[in-house]
Amino acid sequence: MNNDLNENLNFEVANSYKRWNWWPLFPLYPYGTKKTIIKEIVPKMIWGIEQLQGLYYVAVPIRLTVVKVPNGLMLINPLPPTKELISYIKLLEDEHGPVLKVVLPTSSGLEHKIAMPAMARCFKNAELWLCPGQWSFPLNLPLGFLGLPSDRTKFLLKDGFPYPEIFDWVSLGPIDIGLGRFQEIACFHKISKSLIITDALVGINSKPPELFEYDPTPLLFHARDKGSEKLIDTLDQRKKGWLRLVLFASFLKPHLLSIPPIKEIIGNSLRPGLRNLRSHLGIYPFCWEEGWEKSALQIIGKQKPLLQVAPVIRRLVFPRAKNEFLNWLDKLSCLKGMERLISAHFCSSVEFNNYECMKLIRSIKSTDWENSEGNYNFLSVLDNKLLNLKVVPKDPLKKFKD
Ligand SMILES: [Fe+2]
Repeated sequence: MNNDLNENLNFEVANSYKRWNWWPLFPLYPYGTKKTIIKEIVPKMIWGIEQLQGLYYVAVPIRLTVVKVPNGLMLINPLPPTKELISYIKLLEDEHGPVLKVVLPTSSGLEHKIAMPAMARCFKNAELWLCPGQWSFPLNLPLGFLGLPSDRTKFLLKDGFPYPEIFDWVSLGPIDIGLGRFQEIACFHKISKSLIITDALVGINSKPPELFEYDPTPLLFHARDKGSEKLIDTLDQRKKGWLRLVLFASFLKPHLLSIPPIKEIIGNSLRPGLRNLRSHLGIYPFCWEEGWEKSALQIIGKQKPLLQVAPVIRRLVFPRAKNEFLNWLDKLSCLKGMERLISAHFCSSVEFNNYECMKLIRSIKSTDWENSEGNYNFLSVLDNKLLNLKVVPKDPLKKFKD
């Protein structure tokens, strides 16, 4: 009995460390209970703090990057500050000094901006740096209303940049995406030769991210072929689930995926062992067609992460702004001694040097950027719909041409 009580108590304490009560503002998996891990990316200089984020168990890692700066730390790409996340930062503060600056280098990354006010409250003496052109949805609220104190809030570009002697800052955008604007400002940490970005580039590999070791449910849920199959935890199932999550996260609706008739979905549900919320009562409304695995492996690196422009960004944000994207890459290719990319999604550290950057530029120049074939079909149809409804503009640069 005492053991049971202790276990329950430990579970409660552990859960309270992961709690994030503001989750209804951006209701994505894993909702109000977010496991956080920390990884040292560059010894004694850069750390990645990761949580999962997704929809319908399609979860991928999202990352806050911590950089050692003179007399303290700088946080880039904020995340929901659960007690667990703050405890990791406190450990770094004990060794390296206080958090001096918190940087939100994106104007559109809702998943980071949602955490900025809470971060501002956690680090009351830190300077807050924002990418210009911040907007909120569905209501565009002023920054003060969102909980960002004006006396310690600054804007990248307009007010300069934090530590320009240590970092080079390179802006991508702004691009008009209808609801607001897309812009992200890459940050090159010269000492560690690391380029820290938000969404534009990612590196994906075939090994499921470490966070799934704490709860592999999303992998196992999507590794099945129908709702009547139990969630079975094997390495193969985890790997299969990961390939499918990558396809979902990259293309929203992969082309070798169909939705079975509702009668079939219902018929496969509520089987013994699956009548629980974890298994969504056995409801699995997808059917993967032959060849799906091969199409996943085209965007996943085998031995090391495969560097790429995130397909959603390419097809929904930059379809008519290829040159803007290339200009940004051109500037990145001139950064002296670049060695690695640390983006806010997928792999924490990706080999990225000037040669790789030039290679990427060449491959983009020779690709059909507005591709509508295969996995790009759904994104292309969606883009055309938004264009026809005038939700997104034909010329996404027009608004900012002056
Ligand atoms: Fe993102």
